[in-house]
Amino acid sequence: MDRIEGLFDKAKIIGDRVLQQIREGKNILIVGHLDADGITSTSIMAKAILRKGGRFIAKITNSLRLKTLQDLKECDYDFYIFCELGAGIAMQMREMLGDRWINIDHHQIGEDEKKLDNVINSWQFDIDGSKEVSAAGMSYIIASKMDEKNIDLSWLAVVGALGDRQDQGEGRSMLGLNKIVVKDAIESGYLKVTRDLMLYGRETKPLHEAIASTIVPFISGLTGNRDACLAALTSAGIKLKEGARWRTIAELSEEEKKNVVETIIPYIASKPTATDEVKELIGDVYILEMEDEYTPLRDCREFATLLNACGRMRRGGVGISICLRDRDLALKEGEKVLAEYRSTLSRYVQTIMSDDSRLVEGRWSFMIIGDGLVDENLLGSLSSILSDIKKFEGKAFFVRTTTEDGEISFSARLTQGCNPNLNLGVIMEEAKKFDGVGGGHDVAAGSRVPSQRLNEFLEAIEDRLRQVNEDKGQNID
Ligand code: C5P
Repeated sequence: MDRIEGLFDKAKIIGDRVLQQIREGKNILIVGHLDADGITSTSIMAKAILRKGGRFIAKITNSLRLKTLQDLKECDYDFYIFCELGAGIAMQMREMLGDRWINIDHHQIGEDEKKLDNVINSWQFDIDGSKEVSAAGMSYIIASKMDEKNIDLSWLAVVGALGDRQDQGEGRSMLGLNKIVVKDAIESGYLKVTRDLMLYGRETKPLHEAIASTIVPFISGLTGNRDACLAALTSAGIKLKEGARWRTIAELSEEEKKNVVETIIPYIASKPTATDEVKELIGDVYILEMEDEYTPLRDCREFATLLNACGRMRRGGVGISICLRDRDLALKEGEKVLAEYRSTLSRYVQTIMSDDSRLVEGRWSFMIIGDGLVDENLLGSLSSILSDIKKFEGKAFFVRTTTEDGEISFSARLTQGCNPNLNLGVIMEEAKKFDGVGGGHDVAAGSRVPSQRLNEFLEAIEDRLRQVNEDKGQNID
């Protein structure tokens, strides 16, 4: 059977199960992961249930562990829907919850989990969940089988996929099933996709701030340097203000955009990778036409950033309300949360960069100790920011912090100039040997271990790094 057809058939079966719960008046709990994909995935299911008159509570959380599962079971809901959570513990879900659950996900799972009727995961159909479909896309497919009117929720799945950086096609286009989702969102009149300048904050930020906030491509001399951006744009004669208001990228004419690109190119042109990086300046921009101009909701990538901030700042409910189209209180609250998220991260960076006792430099690694400072939910975001700093180039980069339940959480990133044979996902998986959990991709990964096993785990990380660096070979599984 065709891969997509197989997935659609299963989505129909799962959708029917949800409809049956609604008809029987069951109390449903939807639990979603705290990032933008988890929040949109949860919101799509919530809206589909609402439209059929169903009863549900939605909850956003950072991870699903056995203890959390036990707590949820004790809340005694009739039916549980897990969105982008629970890969690896589906067998325990079956043990604890019997048949009263479904798990919607796009993360890799083992063969035993793939066989479960209650699991709907892209990998069951050989669909690559890292770039062809997100959890929000999976929820959307189920919702569209529950009622074809739910095609108008497709824009949420576009936000989810972009939050998970699934725009991995040529010119930041979408691939596989995501393409179908994008097409549905365009046809339902919500989404417009155009090739445009890929500067961050194109709808909301003043021009110089948009350039300064752009990390991909990294524009040496301009990224992170608002004053230099302002000076460069001013000397190029680009009109920066409309009266007292700063102009945004979105309102520039084609001629002005060309001028902006020509202003940026000299900063990139000296690098050997210049041609690729100039190409990265132009790509697909995903615009929600029903949203107001100058809000962070018009550009799907900015929308995803807002949701991610809500989830990580423990305000997932605000994110869900925004997805359900509350444009009043929830949006105001969401904008406040986004500002707090940014200022918290910038406080972490400043504290860490001015306190040498928080940095341990090993032969092949940098380790930042975030204990007592860094919230575990912000660890991944912080790690991505810090690992771009020049000082940390050339070695594997780790940030760790203590968690609420007394464990140690790690986030790992490959830096510029680092040994390309390193696979951080494999290194973080070592945590499993020390009663922990861990995994991820070669360039970005994470783990958690009990605090009493910390030293053993640190030694295991060093050992792995030594093996790869001295042998100059691959990681050994
Ligand atoms: O949290 P962070 O952004 O550092 O996570 C990087 C990657 O590692 C993500 O893809 C995440 O799903 C994965 N990860 C994992 N197991 C963990 C923590 C993170 O697979 N315990």
